[in-house]
Amino acid sequence: MTRIVAFYETIIHKSTQKTKGDIKEMIGIFDSGIGGLTVVKAITERIPGYDIIYFGDTARTPYGNKSPETVIEYAVQNTTFLLNNGAKIIVMACNTASSVAFDIIEKRFEAPVFEVITPAVELALESSRKTAIGVIGTRATVKSGIYEKKIKALNSSARIYSVECPLLVPLVEEGWIDRPETAMIVKKYLHPLKVRQIDTLILGCTHYPLLKHVIQRKIGKRINIIDSSTGVAEKVEKFLKDRPDIDCLLSKNGKSRIFVSDVTDQFAKTARATLKQNVLLEQVKI
Ligand code: DGL
Repeated sequence: MTRIVAFYETIIHKSTQKTKGDIKEMIGIFDSGIGGLTVVKAITERIPGYDIIYFGDTARTPYGNKSPETVIEYAVQNTTFLLNNGAKIIVMACNTASSVAFDIIEKRFEAPVFEVITPAVELALESSRKTAIGVIGTRATVKSGIYEKKIKALNSSARIYSVECPLLVPLVEEGWIDRPETAMIVKKYLHPLKVRQIDTLILGCTHYPLLKHVIQRKIGKRINIIDSSTGVAEKVEKFLKDRPDIDCLLSKNGKSRIFVSDVTDQFAKTARATLKQNVLLEQVKI
């Protein structure tokens, strides 16, 4: 059962008025909240026109301080919801879920599944001259050690320094993007990476691109910041080029449906600012 609970300004997504039987195949994307919208934006910029179904698990955010077992359970539920509502491929637009649940999701479901970690690792290794790479992420992502594992598998001499930043997701969800308190916290989190003389910094959480300007200011303008959203958008584009059999099933009316497990004014405001368009939010219990 879904309920439309927030309608911002004048755009009505006609697809929300369709019945389940009429739903066309879409690109399904999920995150614990607002962060995955940075991936939605990157995908719609890279391959405009594809219809998207998004689920932000705002009622249960943040994922980053939960156990792997809980995040896996949520990821299974989110994927099931998206597939039951028209998704043909799944993008796990969440580093936390990608780091602990990707293998399980990939095995359990037939649909093609994308994660956000490999694209960030590949971009970081391309961009880092000294192969001294910093990673910031949620506690669960950093604890999983996934970035170290994937970077070392491609370059065993790389130096990787990871810092967990558990306060950043709530700050972004709260819309505290340009607050001085947020800048202070970012500075504190980045300090250990500054002293290690990294030349590349991976934003290991899809919420962090919304703080990119603050992070760049605090880490220094010489450091390359890698945001996995562009990398995963490239992967999806390549996949669809290689798989015309799947590509032809996807509808391309440039429509998005955005589902959330809890609606807040703040989510609506940040969603509108991130996507730079009006949004219709649909609340769903999954
Ligand atoms: N944006 C997500 C990530 O990339 C989730 C953060 C959270 O819910 O803690 O990790």
